[in-house]
Amino acid sequence: NDIYLNGLDGRLPPFTTDLTLLGSSAREHLDSGAFGYVAGAAGSGSTHRANREAFDRHRLVPRMLRGPQARDLRTTVLGTEIPAPVLLAPVGVQSIIHPDGELATARAAAAVGVPMVLSTASSHTIEQVAEAHGADNPRWFQLYWPNDDDVCVSILERARKAGYTTLVVTLDTWTLAWRPQDLDQSYLPFIRGVGTAIPFSDPAFRAGLDKSPEDDLIPAVLRWVPMFTGTDHSWDQLPFLRRHWDGPIVLKGVLHPDDARRAADAGMDGIVVSNHGGRQVDGAIASLDALPPIVEAVGERMEVLFDSGVRTGSDVLKALALGARAVLVGRPYAYGLAHGGEEGVLHVLRSLLADLDLTLGLSGHRTPAELSRDSLQGGL
Ligand code: FNR
Repeated sequence: NDIYLNGLDGRLPPFTTDLTLLGSSAREHLDSGAFGYVAGAAGSGSTHRANREAFDRHRLVPRMLRGPQARDLRTTVLGTEIPAPVLLAPVGVQSIIHPDGELATARAAAAVGVPMVLSTASSHTIEQVAEAHGADNPRWFQLYWPNDDDVCVSILERARKAGYTTLVVTLDTWTLAWRPQDLDQSYLPFIRGVGTAIPFSDPAFRAGLDKSPEDDLIPAVLRWVPMFTGTDHSWDQLPFLRRHWDGPIVLKGVLHPDDARRAADAGMDGIVVSNHGGRQVDGAIASLDALPPIVEAVGERMEVLFDSGVRTGSDVLKALALGARAVLVGRPYAYGLAHGGEEGVLHVLRSLLADLDLTLGLSGHRTPAELSRDSLQGGL
């Protein structure tokens, strides 16, 4: 309604409300390295494209004349009450997208009440982002699980002290993939941004260095690379994380039903079905295609979240209809950040939630819980 009323006054949105177009307009706000980092994908980009194609193959079947239309998007995810089934996915080194980086994202997330999942590769510290996020807002922490147990425990303790409730452990990025857009730039923008990232400010990490990363970045990067890229954990090490985190633990990057079963067997609280937005295994299955068999395998035992390719309200509905409890969005809000910092992220979030609300209602539903496989046709 705000948008129609703004139209009466001749006021326009700050940038497009079509979140599928944000990638091309964000290019104007970013240098080529930063744009390549955000927009880029693994290899030929086939999985990145497949994520969107899978949404196009599934179609909503709207229902009519269903009486009063008061809608309620609220839901709970792992015990956290949230205003809509949407979370901000962990996106690293946001300072290369906008100088305010994760601080701007945290403020926008707080304004809407949507949980932000803070990346281990954040370019602002855990504590700074928590402060920007405000005391009462739900915040989750994403762990890139390092090879060094002391550094791991130190990071987890800082996150817990700063009020992060849920731990998201990303499994699919134990090393960075073949990403031509980043390789062509020698990962330069990434390295520039990661130099201030959480591990670099961590006391346990810095204890292994002669000089601080601020004085000499090279030894710090040389310590960081083997610790965070090329890690070699296995299922039998999950109890270590359980010992050092007393809240819910979610494994992110699960695509095979057998891995989902292993996560449930290991007592994990949830998983994120995700192919990292097509950034890790080129040729991997579309994330939406991986969702139904995983929900069938473990849907009764744990909460199943979803990401990769969500751009519109209708995409959210399709993932929920296939059994996801909530979705995470990555690039859309990163592009919003590029367009206008906190205001840009806010515009993206408000647009997505308004689209979700309208499309839910126009499909004949009042709450996310009403969606089921019956709400959809197609998928092959
Ligand atoms: C990511 N993603 C990611 N995931 C993670 O667990 N830790 C991280 O630090 C990052 N960093 C990151 C940076 C950028 C620029 C992007 C685009 C993505 C993956 C992210 O959490 C999520 O899985 C995908 O972004 C979802 O796909 P869409 O929404 O971008 O299509």
